[in-house]
Amino acid sequence: MKVLFIGGTGLISAAATRLALAEGFDLYLLNRGSRPPGLPGSHHLVADVRRPAEVRAALQDFEFEVVVDWIAYAPDDIERDMALFRGRVGQYVFISSASAYQKPPEHYLITEITPLHNPYWEYSRNKIACEERLMRARRDEEFPVTIVRPSMTYDTNLPIAMGGWGTYTLADRLIRGRQIIVHGDGSSLWVVTHADDFARGLLGLLGNGRAVGEAFHITSDEVLTWNQIYQTIAEALGAEANIVHVPSDFIARVSPELAGSLLGDKTWSVVFDNTKIKTFVPGFQAATPFRDGIRRTLAWFAADGERRCVDDAVNTEMDRILKAYAAGAD
Ligand SMILES: NC(=O)c1ccc[n+]([C@@H]2O[C@H](COP(=O)([O-])OP(=O)(O)OC[C@H]3O[C@@H](n4cnc5c(N)ncnc54)[C@H](OP(=O)(O)O)[C@@H]3O)[C@@H](O)[C@H]2O)c1
Repeated sequence: MKVLFIGGTGLISAAATRLALAEGFDLYLLNRGSRPPGLPGSHHLVADVRRPAEVRAALQDFEFEVVVDWIAYAPDDIERDMALFRGRVGQYVFISSASAYQKPPEHYLITEITPLHNPYWEYSRNKIACEERLMRARRDEEFPVTIVRPSMTYDTNLPIAMGGWGTYTLADRLIRGRQIIVHGDGSSLWVVTHADDFARGLLGLLGNGRAVGEAFHITSDEVLTWNQIYQTIAEALGAEANIVHVPSDFIARVSPELAGSLLGDKTWSVVFDNTKIKTFVPGFQAATPFRDGIRRTLAWFAADGERRCVDDAVNTEMDRILKAYAAGAD
């Protein structure tokens, strides 16, 4: 199958790239080539997707059975993609986000018919606007869209609510015995999914005609509390988690830039009903327990010192929140 990934070397897309190549897909990756692809077998198209002329030059007159856009975040991105691929693609897959589901949730168990509504987080509202535009294109012009909503997915990143997404900052704090912040009292429910599991669900949808016009989430069935997530990371590092519980509202007041992601997502208990993806992709089942997956992630960090980057600005911000909370508690 001839497939184009826009992105494809990122935190969660790299796993899908590896699996697609292992399964023999004729895979094209379009990105700026700023990370070593390390993924032999793919065709590399170098372009900045925000520069239409560059993209058109890179795509030439290729036609793809499937295009997956990993990095569309706003309706303008969708308009660009539709202009590029209208009539030239059998299936267009939009990577949305499970944070688009109703917040606060009326019911903890999320299915694909849970309404999309997020008054707290602009990122999620933009994903919703993208989905709405695409479903309108599906109705009006039979644009062959499939929507996929990852929830928190990890591989070469720590799945955390705060503390430096994509960096080693939180692990470094744990190793040094420094305090870490867990929002709320750490007892709300959350689901983290290994990117290899997500990739298997996603690939089962590619070229799957029944999936056109449909939306899916693809997650693990393992449900954890946030305390368990942080304690499992600490345990895998051989460290003791020095947890300070801080209410999300307090964090959002002190550090407004964290408000959207917390109040619009991680604060709420969510559990995903994966019946739909299992129905469309027979045999699909997330297979990586967090205890195992996080050890693989930490082994990846351990293999190369350059990967263990610590964000000083994040540390300063964590310490500022902790100080404000301690002062309030006193
Ligand atoms: N991880 C999660 O927990 C989670 C949860 C919900 C939704 N999502 C969704 O998953 C998607 C992120 O996937 P990811 O983690 O694989 O992405 P990522 O880590 O942000 O990677 C970005 C990819 O896109 C390429 N790229 C970035 N800017 C580009 C540009 N201007 N032009 C061309 N290529 C560009 C990058 O390569 P170059 O830098 O070389 O260009 C890389 O291949 C997003 O849509 C996000 O909303 C993720």
